[in-house]
Amino acid sequence: MGHRRIKIAIDGPAASGKSTTAREVAKRLGYLYIDSGAMYRAVTLMALRAGISTSEDEKVADIAAEIKISFRPNEERTEIYVNGEDVSRDIRTPRITANINPVAANFRVREILVEKQQELGKSGGVVMDGRDITTVVFPDAELKIFMNASPEERANRRVSELAGKNLSADYNAVLSSIKERDTADFTRAHGPLKQATDAVVIDTTLKSIEDQCREIYDLAMAIIEKNSSPEKN
Ligand code: C5P
Repeated sequence: MGHRRIKIAIDGPAASGKSTTAREVAKRLGYLYIDSGAMYRAVTLMALRAGISTSEDEKVADIAAEIKISFRPNEERTEIYVNGEDVSRDIRTPRITANINPVAANFRVREILVEKQQELGKSGGVVMDGRDITTVVFPDAELKIFMNASPEERANRRVSELAGKNLSADYNAVLSSIKERDTADFTRAHGPLKQATDAVVIDTTLKSIEDQCREIYDLAMAIIEKNSSPEKN
């Protein structure tokens, strides 16, 4: 009997290790990985390219409604395309991060992106990470995870990640940008970051990526096996 493919929703603050872990878990399960933050980044990119300030809510929402976002997984990663163009690199620049908060706080943008995310995950077999996935996008997900780590640990990881790309970064500047994003994420009126009551909380401060992946993979396999066992009523 083929197993029913579940939905795995992962939320957590910036640089908590969500994406790396979510991507690897999806790979091990043969599921699609969707980085919902990439969609907010894509809207930000397209607004800036059109010369629109990200605080112009109506115009930014019109862009979100018009663009066609798709994900294409390859061996290494899932690339994100907007209107047929691979924007995976362009959405990761500091300029996008610096301009993203008003886009994430934009109610119409959230409505549009949440609907797209629900459509992408509707048949299951998906691991999606973000800020409101366990609470708004897939409150019905079979497995919900909240990943956290101290701001200092997250800043350290971001600095090493940048160093790995030969980019130097000032620890204090990275730490204050992380704290700023935390405040914006936890306090916005629509789709704020919060811990779903039924989410499994994983503090990754002292954990390796491999440990996090194994923990989530094991939780997922237990649910998948239970769902496909004959005793299930
Ligand atoms: O995950 P990442 O840091 O790439 O997300 C970029 C920004 O998009 C975050 O700072 C957050 O404000 C926003 N976001 C969101 N809801 C999501 C995913 C990301 O508001 N589901």
